[in-house]
Amino acid sequence: MPIAVTPSGTSLGARVAGLDLAAPLDESGFREVEAIFHRHQVVAFEGQHLDEEEVIANIIVTMVGGQETTTNLIGNGMLTLARNPGALAQLRDDPDIIESAVEELLRYESPSQHTGRITPHDMVLGDKELKKGAAVMAVMAAGNRDPLRFPDPDRLDLLRTDNRHLAFGWAAHFCFGAPLARIEGQIAFNTLLRRLPGVALEPVKLEWRENLGLRGLKSLPVRFQQAVVPA
Ligand code: HEM
Repeated sequence: MPIAVTPSGTSLGARVAGLDLAAPLDESGFREVEAIFHRHQVVAFEGQHLDEEEVIANIIVTMVGGQETTTNLIGNGMLTLARNPGALAQLRDDPDIIESAVEELLRYESPSQHTGRITPHDMVLGDKELKKGAAVMAVMAAGNRDPLRFPDPDRLDLLRTDNRHLAFGWAAHFCFGAPLARIEGQIAFNTLLRRLPGVALEPVKLEWRENLGLRGLKSLPVRFQQAVVPA
């Protein structure tokens, strides 16, 4: 999704998914995008109005955070299942395991690989001393394969229990869209396995997108038999 964020005067101008976030006000005093926020009554929070930059920042994080990540959950998950035919057959034969299957696919091939933080004060994290203001990169995808946390972490186990992974982050900024993304993943995997019998990878070189933070394929070429089951 093309995103351009450019400073315009003192305000932040941005275009996300076709919405011009810095468009001129209409006759009622709203931009299209602010009108959307007003309709959903989220412009004011606990009595405080969001300013323009906060409205734009919230739209960007919701639209960007919610689109490519979920797309990559589905693409990475299908790749993982195709590379593990035993697990694929297990899920196809027993769709009721979908909830734990999606959690394991999120852990195993995490769509969101890392995030960043600025340390609020001097602190010790593990065996590292961090100065106030230091930029820290937390690689959730590495934590998700940590052998101290997950037994046999490189093994795909769709029935893994105690699977408290970091794919949606942790604590105050835990993913706002996690319940939606989980349901989307559950519907997508079960539907794809039901409607694409014999789905398997085409023997071509896979190309990953170049974004280090959002792990996802440019495309996932597969073959499958003609569906014999109703949609
Ligand atoms: C598989 C899909 C998704 C993954 C892997 C994912 C991952 C994440 C991660 C790791 C964070 C925490 C970032 C941090 O702590 O710095 C986050 C936050 C967030 N996500 Fe998602 N996300 C997904 C889907 C969605 C969807 C569908 C939406 C919106 C509908 C969404 C909206 C957000 C928002 C608004 C935040 C910021 C929350 C905050 O700062 O309080 N995400 N997401």
